[in-house]
Amino acid sequence: MSLSNRWQVELQRLKDEARYRTLQPPAGIDFSSNDYLGYSKCPSPVSDLSRGGTASRLLRGQHPIWDEVEAKLAEWHHAEVALMFTSGYAANEGLLSTVLAAGDTVFSDQHNHASIIDGVRLGRAEKVVFSHGDVNELEAVMRQRRPARAAQQAWFIVTESLFGMEGDRASLQALAELAERYQAHLIVDEAHATGCFGPGGSGLVDALGLRERVLATVHTGGKALAVPGAYIAGTRLLRELLVNRCRHFIFTTALPPQIGAWWLDTLKAVVVDESARVALHERVRVFRQQASLRRIPVGGTDYLATVILGTDAAAVEAARRLQQAGFDIRAIRPPTVPPGTARLRISIHADHDPAVLLDLANLLATLVSPTS
Ligand SMILES: Cc1ncc(COP(=O)(O)O)c(C=O)c1O
Repeated sequence: MSLSNRWQVELQRLKDEARYRTLQPPAGIDFSSNDYLGYSKCPSPVSDLSRGGTASRLLRGQHPIWDEVEAKLAEWHHAEVALMFTSGYAANEGLLSTVLAAGDTVFSDQHNHASIIDGVRLGRAEKVVFSHGDVNELEAVMRQRRPARAAQQAWFIVTESLFGMEGDRASLQALAELAERYQAHLIVDEAHATGCFGPGGSGLVDALGLRERVLATVHTGGKALAVPGAYIAGTRLLRELLVNRCRHFIFTTALPPQIGAWWLDTLKAVVVDESARVALHERVRVFRQQASLRRIPVGGTDYLATVILGTDAAAVEAARRLQQAGFDIRAIRPPTVPPGTARLRISIHADHDPAVLLDLANLLATLVSPTS
C-alpha cells in the first residue's frame, strides 16, 4: 500500500468513527477557548489582533489569519499547503512521530538536529543512521536492505538542507534521486536555509527545483525570518493527516493571532528583499576568502562557518579570547557535536561590516593552527 493510501485509510477510519477533525474559525459566543480571565481581549501592545492563542487550532485557536499565513507560505514554496507549528522543534518531532509507522525504516543523517532525532525516536520505525552527507554509504545500506523489504514498508530519508552545526549542505539532488530509486520519501529540514536561498529566499529545496520530489519541508521562523513559530510545507493529504493525528499540532495552544500578522509582514519583506540575500552571500565570500588567505581551517560552505578545535577546553579558550575582543562567538561542545570535535561556530550576517570580518579573520589567525 502506498503512503497516500495508508493515510487515506487512516483518515477514512477516523471519519467512520466520527473522529475526523477539520479546522473551524471561531464563531458564536466563546465557550470553547481557555481564555478564563478574558485577557486575550485586552488591548495588545503590538497590534489590535488578539494577544493570546487561547486554545488549540482545533478548538477556538483557528483565527482566520492562519489561513492567510499558510496560503502565503504555500505560495512561496509552490507547495500545495503549509501548516503552522509553535516551533521548529515541534514541527520536526510532530511530523516524524506522525508519519513514521511501525515496520517502516527511516534513514537519518548522523548530524541531524535533536528535534529530528527525537521525532525519529517517537516514530516507531526502524532507524538507520548514515554517516554525515555520505550518499554512497546510504545507497549501499538501502541496496543491502532492499531484498528483505516488505511491500507495505515505507522508507524515509530525513536530512537538514544546510546543517546548523556543520555549516555544510546536504546533497539534496543525490538524495532525491536515491529516494526515487528506492521508493523512499524525502523529508528536508530547511531551518537554516529558509529566507536565504533560492528565488524569493524560500530555501534550498526550491532553489534546486526539488519541491515535487520531497514529501515535506520543515521551516522555522526562529532563524533568518526572526519571527516566532514554524511550519511544514507539503501536500493537502499530509496536512489533513497532521491536523488529525499529529500530537504536537492537536494538543498545543495556537500561536497568538498577532504573531500571524508578524508572519504576513515578514513574508512580504523576505520574498522581495534580494538585497539582504545578496549582502549575506557577499559577506560570506569576503570572510571565507580572508580566512583562506590566512590558512584558517574553516568548515562549512555558506554563512555558518566552523573552526574545529577538538577539545572542549581549546574551544572554550578560543571563544573566550574572541569574546574578549568583542566578537560574540560561542564554543559548541558535546552533546551538540560529537566528542573530540568541539568548535567555534561563526554565523555570518548580511549586516556585518566587511572591516569587522577582516578583524575577525586576523584574530582567528592568531588563535588556530593554520592548515598545511
Ligand atoms: C536544523 C534545525 N531544525 C530545527 C530546529 C528547531 O527550530 P526552533 O528553534 O524553531 O524550535 C533548529 C533550531 O535550533 C535547527 O537548527
